[in-house]
Amino acid sequence: MTADAELAAVPPAPILKDLTDENITENTVIINNQSRDRRLKYIMERLVTHLHEFARETRLTTDEWLTGIAFLVQCGKISSDVRHEFVLLSDVLGLSCLIDSMDHPKPKNATIATILGPFHAEAGEFENGDSICSDGKGEQCLIRASVKDTQGRPLEGVSVDIWETDSTGHYDTQYDGATADCRGIVKTDAEGQIWLKAIRPVPYPIPHDGPVGKMLEHLGRHPFRPSHVHFKLVKDGYDPLVTALYLKGDPYETTDAVFGVKSQLLIEIDRVTDPAMAARYGVNLNDWLIEYDFVICTEAEAAELKAESSRKYLAAKGLKLDLIDGLPVADLD
Ligand code: BEZ
Ligand code: FE
Repeated sequence: MTADAELAAVPPAPILKDLTDENITENTVIINNQSRDRRLKYIMERLVTHLHEFARETRLTTDEWLTGIAFLVQCGKISSDVRHEFVLLSDVLGLSCLIDSMDHPKPKNATIATILGPFHAEAGEFENGDSICSDGKGEQCLIRASVKDTQGRPLEGVSVDIWETDSTGHYDTQYDGATADCRGIVKTDAEGQIWLKAIRPVPYPIPHDGPVGKMLEHLGRHPFRPSHVHFKLVKDGYDPLVTALYLKGDPYETTDAVFGVKSQLLIEIDRVTDPAMAARYGVNLNDWLIEYDFVICTEAEAAELKAESSRKYLAAKGLKLDLIDGLPVADLD
């Protein structure tokens, strides 16, 4: 269809009427309904309905609304290629955590996902045994992990992307003109294993010198995350796993500013006590040791779970909607 024909095919707009706090929602929904994209139509209909209901319920004032707009402007102003204030906002509101778990449901025996955060960046490729940290100040920590499928079979050639802060609690991207550090990608070997030298993770505050930090302050919340290392596991045919391992007993374990901690991802950090192990991995006795067995599921397993959870949710709400790719969509009028 040409652009002109497409425009001509758009249904007529609703007739003009006096818009009030009672009918503005219906009218906005009608006018948005001209879209031919069923998913977009559904998302916009729900967004407008909930947004308007939020304003009605809170009796939102013009001043409060303008304060909200000014806050978003500040978020935009401080944002850059490396400063992702809107990701932070989504994280501290618990929205990232909610969306991640809905979008990447995992079978019971697979490793659970958690938030990506704003500090994932391009990383170099490393070989098993390499060190990904050059700051030389942290406490050396051997990371040893296996990757299996949900049937327990080791998976070769999984790309394992690892990132963490340096010993001062800063990611490389937080330094002016910095180069990649404390991050790297390694592929699993024929036994589905990876091992790298890194540093013992430390707790750190999320960037809190901007509007999101101010918001936390107003809410009486601290900006800290418990000690953790991030992982992103990717292999063709498998649902990407974005996750992290958290040190058990960290002071911020139960009050993570961004709600990333899950009990399945809490680990005891050990020491390398076996001289044979130290020799095999080229580390020192008493270096720290993080070990974990990851299990990833196939795209098909994840897609089935996602559709099932959409169906369950809609049924519980008494809603009858078509699903496309496991997601609810609006009817086309
Ligand atoms: C992180 O763990 O890298 C992170 C996550 C959310 C907000 C800030 C940092
Ligand atoms: Fe982090």
